[in-house]
Amino acid sequence: MDQIIIDGGAPLSGSVTVQGSKNSALPILFATILTEDRCTINNVPKLSDVRTTQAILEELGMHCNRDHHGAICVETTDPTRTLADYDLVSTMRASICSLGPLLARRGKAKVSLPGGCVFGAGGRPVDLHLKGLEALGAQIKVEKGYIIAEGKLKGAALDLSGPRGSTVTGTANILMAATLAEGDTEIRNAALEPEVTDLAIFLRGMGAQIEGVGTSTLEVHGVKELHGTDHIVMPDRIEAGTLLLAGAITKGSVTVKNVVPKQLDKLTACLEQAGFALAIEEDSIAISTNGRIRAIDISTRAYPGFPTDLQAPMTALLTQAEGVSQISENIYQDRFQHIPELNRLGAGIDQDNDHATIDGPKELSGAPVMASDLRSGASLILAGLVAKGATTVRRIYHVDRGYEAIEKKLALLGASIRREKAVEKTEEATPEPTRIPVHQD
Ligand code: EPZ
Repeated sequence: MDQIIIDGGAPLSGSVTVQGSKNSALPILFATILTEDRCTINNVPKLSDVRTTQAILEELGMHCNRDHHGAICVETTDPTRTLADYDLVSTMRASICSLGPLLARRGKAKVSLPGGCVFGAGGRPVDLHLKGLEALGAQIKVEKGYIIAEGKLKGAALDLSGPRGSTVTGTANILMAATLAEGDTEIRNAALEPEVTDLAIFLRGMGAQIEGVGTSTLEVHGVKELHGTDHIVMPDRIEAGTLLLAGAITKGSVTVKNVVPKQLDKLTACLEQAGFALAIEEDSIAISTNGRIRAIDISTRAYPGFPTDLQAPMTALLTQAEGVSQISENIYQDRFQHIPELNRLGAGIDQDNDHATIDGPKELSGAPVMASDLRSGASLILAGLVAKGATTVRRIYHVDRGYEAIEKKLALLGASIRREKAVEKTEEATPEPTRIPVHQD
């Protein structure tokens, strides 16, 4: 198990290029199941979640490797395979995105109930995914931890709103399934996240007929078959936001390049409200400060609201703000697992269910802490950048799911940070996922 050690205090400076979007690349890779032709996907980040997805696709009879340019080329070798096995699926929630394409292209699917991040009371439900597929005519049952689905799909009007808004991967799943369903499908309350738009662009490149892209109502006219295509995955807006917050918490001067500024509007508005100066160009954002950070209130919402995936990194920043900041997590229950760990560094954050209060600024002192999911891990690394002394962030495999070599990017910006192997002494150490896919990036 790797750990990252940070010696805090250095203001970061310089520019860094943002990786391709994990949350766009994963559904797009599963969408290749919809054709037997070759697809070439560029700008796919080198992450463990991508390697897991490659391994699941291999199990599903797809040949899936990086070419010498680093693009991932996918081609079907055996279209009879329809089982997405527990060992791999249990390590990554996005595996649920294999369900829609398998059903649509191969007429049946057996997919393990997902695993992945642990936050979210009662796990991470998939009821909206299953309700949407049933609306398209699928027969679905859940047996022994597997979703078993079959049937010929027919277009329908369906609604994806749930108790906490729409569903991002649910929209992706239903959209992919609808492309090959017979007739027309209307998806109401579709998620507006840019990753859904990027998937829709990929599907259109395969010959899918989709209207309303970028709106909450998607209209899909089913076609008989789809063909291969090439695609460049959009930049990762969450990594971009995390790197901007790293510049902010160290009161440095950082430019993130290869971004779509509009996708980060809410974050940049919050940072300006907190007193930072933002210079926004066509594909870059630069952050700097006059030294004082103002307390602000954050309330996570579906896009274009403040992204839940930046709530934990923003919480770390607000420990350095002057005054009382209020943070409300409205998308997930229990997405505050970084708070007890930040408090080990001296953050003094009060938490009441899905609401947190920070009375800053707090001087943080380095200590050993533990990541519990990828964004809480990022939050702890950011706090270590400003904490006095050494902070050791353990279980970095969580962070590696979504950030490509984060310690290298931060070191390039001047952070004193390194990765090393660690052996957890306690018997309750949670082993890394049972199978780390064989794919080497
Ligand atoms: C996607 O997860 C992202 N993952 C998450 O990013 C992100 O936090 C989330 O969207 C919200 O933006 C990927 O795209 C791979 P949801 P997803 O379905 O699709 C409830 C990261 O850090 N819900 O939009 O799983 C659910 O419990 C990850 O990169 C149901 O009730 O999220 C949650 O409260 C973490 N029933 C809310 O909806 C369902 O069937 C939003 O979930 C599905 C979801």
